[in-house]
Amino acid sequence: MGSAMLLRFSISLLIFVPAFLVLGDTTDSPKKSPAASTSSPPRPPSPLGDPSWALGLRLYKAIRSSDSGSVNTLLSPLLLASSLVALGEGSAGSTSSQLQDLLKTSVPSKSAAQAGEFLSGALKSLTEANGTSFHLRSSSTVFSKQAPPVDLAFVKESQSRFGLQHQPLGKGDAKADLKQFHAWAKAGLGGLEAAPLGTAIQANAGALILANALHFKGLWEREFSGESADRRTFLGYKYTKVVMMHRTGLYRHYEDIENMVQVLEMGLFGGKASLVLLLPFHVESLTRLDKVLTLELLTNWLEKTTDTSMAISLPKANITSTLSLQKALTALGLTVPWDQKMADFSGVSAKSQGKVHLGSVLHWASLELVAKAGEGDTDLEDENVGKPKLFYADHSFIVLVRDNVSGALLLMGALDHAEGEALHDEL
Ligand SMILES: *[C@@H]1O[C@H](CO)[C@@H](O)[C@H](O)[C@H]1NC(C)=O
Ligand SMILES: *[C@@H]1O[C@H](CO)[C@@H](O)[C@H](O)[C@H]1NC(C)=O
Ligand SMILES: *[C@@H]1O[C@H](CO)[C@@H](O)[C@H](O)[C@H]1NC(C)=O
Repeated sequence: MGSAMLLRFSISLLIFVPAFLVLGDTTDSPKKSPAASTSSPPRPPSPLGDPSWALGLRLYKAIRSSDSGSVNTLLSPLLLASSLVALGEGSAGSTSSQLQDLLKTSVPSKSAAQAGEFLSGALKSLTEANGTSFHLRSSSTVFSKQAPPVDLAFVKESQSRFGLQHQPLGKGDAKADLKQFHAWAKAGLGGLEAAPLGTAIQANAGALILANALHFKGLWEREFSGESADRRTFLGYKYTKVVMMHRTGLYRHYEDIENMVQVLEMGLFGGKASLVLLLPFHVESLTRLDKVLTLELLTNWLEKTTDTSMAISLPKANITSTLSLQKALTALGLTVPWDQKMADFSGVSAKSQGKVHLGSVLHWASLELVAKAGEGDTDLEDENVGKPKLFYADHSFIVLVRDNVSGALLLMGALDHAEGEALHDEL
C-alpha cells in the first residue's frame, strides 16, 4: 500500500513538472479558455430521449453488477439496440413488447417506430464517418439453428435498415456452432482474435442467435505524443507497464467533486464523433463509479463540461470483450423471447409458431486507444492553452463513444486492466 501511494505520487510529479516548463510564465491565466466565451459549436442531442443510451446504461450496469466479475467490459449499445429493434419488428405479443421495453427512454419517450427510425439513421451517419473520424468494422447477424425458413421480407427489411444479416447454423453439435460463431466474429472484427465465450452455447432446434461484432479505432482531432520506450505503470486490477501518450490542449471537461470523478470529452477528427472518459480522482476499482452511474447523472455531467486547458495522459491500450448477454438481458426483463413455447417470432418466419425462439445474444467488441489523428483538410483554430488541469489516466476508467450528429451511444465500456508486462507491486 505504502509503496503504491509513493509510486503514484512520483508519477504525478513527473508529469506536472514538464507541464510547467512548457507553459513558461503564463501561470495565472484563468482555467476557462477565451474560446469558451465565443459561440461554441452545437451539441449533440441529450442522451435522455435516446434508446441506445437507455439500453446501454442499464445493460452495462447489469453486466458489471453480476457476480461473474467482468473485466474490460465493452459493448455497442447502438449495434445491439438496432438488432433488437429488427427482431422486435419480426415478433408479436409479449415477445415484441418485451423487446421494445428494453429500449424505452424516460423523457421524452420514443415510440417503437420512432426508435427504429432513429437507430437506423444513427447507423448510417456512423458508416458515413467511417475512415474520417475513426476506423470502424461492424457486423450483425441472426443465426438460426434448424429453424423453419426465415421470411425473405424480414431478411430484406432488417438488412437494409439495420445491417442485420441472416445465416443458418450447420447441422453439427454445439462445438461446431461455436466454431462458426468464432470464425464469424473474427471476420466481423477485421481479423482480430477475440477471447472465447465464457459460457457454452447450446442452440436447440428453432433457436435464433443474435450476434454483434464491432471494432473501433478513433482518430483524434490533434495527435498525441508518446515514446514507445517511455513505459509507465497502469494501476488497474493488476499493475502493468504500458506506453502512455500525452497532449496538452483545450478539451471539454467537468469535475464532479462530490462523486470524485473527472469527465472529459474529446472530439475525433472531423467532429463526427467524440470519446468521453470518466476517471475517478484516485486509484480505485470502478465498482463505486459503476454503482453511482445513472443516465441522469451522465447527462448532467456532459452538459456541464466546458472548454478547459487540459494536460491529458492516456494509456495506449485495447479494450476487447466477448459477452453472452442472456443473463443480463433477462435481468432487465427479457423473459418471453427465450421461451420455446411462448416466444412469438411470427414476423421472422410465418411457420415459426411454437418453434422459433431466441437462443442467445452474443457480443464481441473491441476499442483501440491510439495516438494518431485523422488526416485531411480541417482548419483547426489555434488553441489558447492556459495553465492546464491534469487528467492522468493511469488507473481504471469508463469510456463512451458517441455519434456527434445523432447523439447515439456507439460504445460503452471500462478499462479495468491494461495489457502489459506485469508489476509485482500491487495493492
Ligand atoms: C469502414 O471502412 C473500411 C475500409 O474501407 C471497411 O472495410 C469497413 O467495412 C467499413 N465499416 C463499416 C461499418 O461500414
Ligand atoms: C458536432 O456536430 C455539429 C452539427 O453537425 C457540428 O456543428 C459540431 O461542430 C460538431 N462538434 C464537434 C466537436 O465537431
Ligand atoms: C491493440 O490491438 C491492435 C490490433 O490487434 C494491436 O496491433 C496493438 O498492438 C494492440 N495495442 C496494445 C497496446 O496492446
